[in-house]
This record gives sequence, C-alpha cells and structure tokens, in this order.
Amino acid sequence: MARVLSAIQPSGTIHLGNYFGAIRPWVAAQRNNDAFYSIADLHALTLDIDPAALRANTLDTAIVLFAAGLDPELCTLFVQSHLHEHNELSWLLECVATYGELRRMVQFKDKSANQESVRVGLLTYPVLMAADILLYQTEQVPVGDDQRQHLELSRDLAVRFNGRYGTVFRVPEAIIPSVGARVMDLQYPNRKMSKSVGSPQGTINITDTADEIAKKVRRAVTDNEADVLYDPDTRPGLSNLLELLSVTTGRSPTDLAEDFSSYGELKAALTSSLIEALAPLQQRMQELRQDYGHVARLLNEGADKARAIASETLARARDAVGLLAQR
Ligand code: TYM
Repeated sequence: MARVLSAIQPSGTIHLGNYFGAIRPWVAAQRNNDAFYSIADLHALTLDIDPAALRANTLDTAIVLFAAGLDPELCTLFVQSHLHEHNELSWLLECVATYGELRRMVQFKDKSANQESVRVGLLTYPVLMAADILLYQTEQVPVGDDQRQHLELSRDLAVRFNGRYGTVFRVPEAIIPSVGARVMDLQYPNRKMSKSVGSPQGTINITDTADEIAKKVRRAVTDNEADVLYDPDTRPGLSNLLELLSVTTGRSPTDLAEDFSSYGELKAALTSSLIEALAPLQQRMQELRQDYGHVARLLNEGADKARAIASETLARARDAVGLLAQR
C-alpha cells in the first residue's frame, strides 16, 4: 500500500474542478492505499477570509468530503491546524527553500499580481504545502494540474534537505488524473475553474441546485463553429464541456463528440449527467449536517492518527538540523 496525502483549502464552496480533479480521485485512492487527507485551513489564511466563515467552511468542507465518500475506516481526514507539526516543519523547510524559487511560482505571481501589499504567507505557502506532504513520508499526491509546480518544489526541498542533513524524507510524486485535472471556467474557458479568481456564472459548485446547474451550462461560452469536435487548443469552451461529460460518463471526450450534432444537445446531456452525479452527494451532505458533533469527533480522531506519523517525522527533522532536544 502506498502512502497517499492530499489537501484542500476550506476557502469557500467546492466546485467541479475540486471535485473531479481531486476529491473523486481521493475517494478512489483510499481503497488500496494508506491515505491521509487534510483540510488546509492554514493555507486559507493567505487570502482575505472572515474568521467566522473560515470556521464554518472548515467543518463544511469535512462534510463535503465525507459525503463524497471518504470513509474514516479507510482513510484519515484531519484539519491541518490541529497539528502544530505542520507549522514547525514548514519553518525548517523555509530555511532550505530560496526566495528566488518561491517568487517564481506561477500561483504566487497570479495571486499577487493585482495586490498592493502582498502577504508573506502567499509567498511561503508552497513551503507549508511541502511540509504537509513530507511529514507523512508520502509517496503519492493526487492533485489537479494547477498543483504540479508546487509538487515539484516539494520534491526539490525533500532532495535538498536529505542531501544536506541526511535522509529524513521520502520524495513524493504527483498523481494527476488523465481527465478532470483541469476543469475550465464555463465563461472564460482559457482560465481554470477557481474559488479565488473564477467567475460566478462560470463556476459550478457541488452544492448548486439543478436549476443553477442547467442555467450555467446553458450559458457556457463555446464558439461559432457548427460541428461538435474535441480539440482543447482551438475549441476550448466546447472541449471543456466534453471533458466534464467524460468524467461523469467514463467515456473519452473524442468518443462523446461523435454522439452530438449540436451544442444544445451536448449541453442538455451534460446538465442531466451533472445533476445525476451530484444528487446523492447533496443528499448525504444534508444528512451529515444534522450532526455536526459527529463530524467534529471524526476530525479529532483523524488528527490523532495523523499526529502519530507527523510527530515522528518532525522529531527526526529537528534532530537532523541540529536542534537541541529538551531533556
Ligand atoms: P485547492 O484547495 O485550490 O484545490 C484542491 C484540489 O482541487 C484541485 N483543483 C482543480 N482540479 C481540476 N480543475 C480545476 N479547475 C481545479 N481547481 C482546483 C487542485 O489541484 C487540488 O488538488 N495548495 C492546495 C492545497 C494543499 C495541498 C497540500 C494539496 C495544501 N497542502 C498538500 C496537496 C498536498 C490548494 O490550494 O488546493
């Protein structure tokens, strides 16, 4: 069994990109692996977020993840900030990372571009992410395509730390799904669907009603051609719709394109398949919302299981860099 770890920020509603790019693969990976999943609430502090909203979103994200099929018997789900080990290892890794490599991160450049005063946390965020991963001796990290560069950094930091101080960390590998790894905004098909910079009409949230889903798909931007063809480079809007249908049906986008003679038909088929895919999840969310105490207890148990591994790695890393142990 491979050790798997991944995380999601509780920074608002969860959209189809998160669901198809990450959450569904997590659910699949818990069966044959030793899987750890985390709600990265410390990461959410890098952007403006109301404290009450952060608390509520953290619990709600846990509800989504359990409703989507994460099973506490098969995997470990925990809240990042419940373990001080993440912050501590992050500092040790900050002293191995360089300013130049962090400044070059594409997400940092995008998110800081229009801000007058940029939080330091936005710059150091990928180091905290590396700590999240390396603490668990992770082998595989299932993520969407947008995290590829952060994963490379985690690998670089692990190799550099091991080279300098002796082997402490396993070097992780990104696992990126073949379809669904890059769900695009329905209004701006050249931009990824995103919580922080997406357009509301172009983002389908997993809590959207059937009417909202139908409306967003109907208004999705395509192009002025007449035929239905899968070609992400020249037909990005249309190809995004075909990819979404591909993740819900399990058929290839190229194959699916042959089934439709108009965009209207494709949009109708996509609408019903999305509604059908999300309905059971929404139903389970409602059930879990009846008992927040139960969800909180599961998160406590998750944190205890995670700590057993994280504290051991942290102790080794502290020792390796020469921090004097307290006696
Ligand atoms: P976050 O919260 O932005 O996204 C969670 C997961 O969803 C994927 N994703 C997408 N996949 C396909 N299409 C999209 N449009 C799309 N948008 C998001 C992301 O790739 C991610 O897998 N830094 C991370 C959270 C994190 C983490 C970690 C991940 C913190 N520590 C350790 C892995 C390992 C983030 O902000 O993801």
